[in-house]
Amino acid sequence: MNTVVNLPPLHAGNAKLRLGFGTWWRCAEIFYAFYNEVYEMEYSHKPVMADECISGLDIDPNGIYVDCTVGGGGHAALIAERLDEGRLIALDRDPEAIKAARQRLEPYKDKVIFINCNFSEVKQILGGVRPKGALIDLGVSSYQIDNPARGFSYMKDAPLDMRMDQRQALTAYDVVNGYSEERLEKIIREYGEERYADRIASRIVAARENAPIRTTLELASIIESAVPELPRASFRSGYRRQRSYSHPAKRTFQAIRIEVNGELDVIEPTIRDLVDLLLPGGRLAVITFHSLEDRIVKRTFAELQKGCVCPPDFPICVCGKEPQVELITKKPITPCRAELEDNPKSHSAKLRIVKKL
Ligand SMILES: C[S@@+](CC[C@H](N)C(=O)[O-])C[C@H]1O[C@@H](n2cnc3c(N)ncnc32)[C@H](O)[C@@H]1O
Repeated sequence: MNTVVNLPPLHAGNAKLRLGFGTWWRCAEIFYAFYNEVYEMEYSHKPVMADECISGLDIDPNGIYVDCTVGGGGHAALIAERLDEGRLIALDRDPEAIKAARQRLEPYKDKVIFINCNFSEVKQILGGVRPKGALIDLGVSSYQIDNPARGFSYMKDAPLDMRMDQRQALTAYDVVNGYSEERLEKIIREYGEERYADRIASRIVAARENAPIRTTLELASIIESAVPELPRASFRSGYRRQRSYSHPAKRTFQAIRIEVNGELDVIEPTIRDLVDLLLPGGRLAVITFHSLEDRIVKRTFAELQKGCVCPPDFPICVCGKEPQVELITKKPITPCRAELEDNPKSHSAKLRIVKKL
């Protein structure tokens, strides 16, 4: 994690308190970690497949571009630095992301317009403006995951929150403590693709009968206790380098996050809106981080490429739908070995690009 301040050195040998150096050192470490995490977290996020995205967007220096998920502004900076008369419209539903991106993009401030909104509103926001390219980099940023105050991580204790936009009412606490067992099981199975969804949902409901589940680590330990011994043993004995390694709470946390933020529902309509808006020859690039997202993007791109939706046994087309895009990536682009080594968080990323006809 990056930090922006250095704390003054601690005077470890204070004889009056008769504490040993080890105790002081441990106190200093705890204080330092707490201080950094809660008060001085810098917005840090490495843009994934940055070169591939930028070359795939084939930037026109005089065109209008939309970054639907500006996050820390990594991709946006690379787009903005290539613009001449062109402009970048940068969206994010998280006000903290907009603040961070505004700082990072200060050198290009005359070329960038920031809007704090859900990208599902892009059509209303752009009005009649027709972009030459757009990017959607789905999911959460490293900052959101690593900042304990946001409650996204099963590794750090925090109140159950997980909202990308903290003005929204629904939180992870409401989902975990308010949903019926059936509803919990359904979201954990569908959004987490978790095979032990029934056991986890039932364990959550039993646990909350005593008292509400309030924190991420409480929830993580309930999930861990619901997962059979074998996967738990593999996690504890540290199969970190194995492909099969996965924290027992990972899938359930993903499911709850998707539910809290309504992440999947907005992908297809936004892709269709962006394709409508794009100028002919304009490009849309989408980066996904799990198979649920990628399936939606792949299917939507395939439908837009195909055009006609008549049943296959119709002798002629009666729907009149024309193909709207050409697939630039027949298969998704994935991070190269060097990027995987430099940024392991990119390991599940897939990039798909289309060109408007
Ligand atoms: C993976 S990060 C983007 C990182 C960014 N490309 C960069 O290089 O720094 C995803 C961002 O998308 C935002 N986001 C996710 N879903 C969104 C939505 N439906 N509308 C607007 N922003 C969204 C999140 O708040 C987060 O800041």
